[in-house]
Amino acid sequence: MALCRLQVTDFRCLQSIDLQLDPEFTLISGANASGKTSLLEAIYMLGRGRSFRTRRLDHVIRRGAELFRVFGEVDAGASRIPLGIEGSRDGVHARIAAAPAKSLADLALALPVQIIDPEVHKLIEDGPYYRRRFLDWGVFHVEQGFIESWQRYRLILRQRNAALKARQARAAVVAWDQALIPQADALTDARMRYIDQLQGPAAAMARSLLGKDLELRYRTGWAKDQALAEALAQSWPQDQERGSTQLGPHRAELVVQIDARVAKDNISRGQQKLLAAALLIAQLKLFPADAVRRPTLLLDDPAAELDQVHLAALIAEVSGGVNQLVVTTLQAEFSAFGTPGRRCRIADGVLSEG
Ligand SMILES: Nc1ncnc2c1ncn2[C@@H]1O[C@H](COP(=O)(O)OP(=O)(O)O)[C@@H](O)[C@H]1O
Ligand SMILES: [Mg+2]
Repeated sequence: MALCRLQVTDFRCLQSIDLQLDPEFTLISGANASGKTSLLEAIYMLGRGRSFRTRRLDHVIRRGAELFRVFGEVDAGASRIPLGIEGSRDGVHARIAAAPAKSLADLALALPVQIIDPEVHKLIEDGPYYRRRFLDWGVFHVEQGFIESWQRYRLILRQRNAALKARQARAAVVAWDQALIPQADALTDARMRYIDQLQGPAAAMARSLLGKDLELRYRTGWAKDQALAEALAQSWPQDQERGSTQLGPHRAELVVQIDARVAKDNISRGQQKLLAAALLIAQLKLFPADAVRRPTLLLDDPAAELDQVHLAALIAEVSGGVNQLVVTTLQAEFSAFGTPGRRCRIADGVLSEG
């Protein structure tokens, strides 16, 4: 089961594209600025409801157009599931099997997609937000019910923060805590269970790609030895001063340690790229074998980022059939991955065979 067809309209430089994908490995070659990253971005948009390059929809809509459309077909054995997303400056709308999707989470379930691109080191280098997002995408795909806890938590947090911002009395603010805390605990437990599962594959992958020891730790977003209720009570002055809730799983951190030190401060940019790739690949390997969909892994110009040895190691890890692969490359004769099931060229946003 894989994404077998992709149609893209008015997305960045892609005016109109119709691509048949191989269930295992599709290779797309093209010169600089030909539209390679845009094509991967369109696939990502279909599975995530957002871009990995920008938050601004007006940047991805083709200049001069009003909206973009991305349509895909997922091979589900006996049938094909059509998925679609269209975006205007006002937002995105998703459809699954011709009906409007209830939420983007439905799309994400139908098309789990992950990207390793030249910016992948941000997962290690940037703030905790990126690592929480990484973590939550993984938990979402292995634990039913996680998304409901997340959505409820976010809703209650927003109301609590609105009460703080409006300078409401303490009783009116903490009235939200009774509903907030069970959701916070559910989120925290699910994330911790997931990290326990991820630790093994992630360490194996870090060993294989970097030759180093990896350890994952979770910081809950409040003091370790306290219950959240107690922590929230203590942070009232700070909450009141800042006008928002300072503690909770929305402030959690996934701490990535290499050789017992925090990775982001102790390894080079190149090592950060490999480490981030190791985490992302480990996450794909954790996908339940009975999942409705195999994940699709997008690799944006990996040959430009990695030397031969590391490229070969990466390839060995992602070619096992756990995921569908879509790879871009500058060099059409790119042979590092063996023989792709499908090969195409892109030039000025237009696809051709070969
Ligand atoms: N909204 C847009 N409308 C039209 N063209 C765009 C838009 N955004 C980016 N582009 C153009 O798309 C081209 C291809 O970009 P990209 O997909 O990043 O190429 P590649 O990855 O092959 O180097 C660039 O020339 C860029 O200027
Ligand atoms: Mg590119």
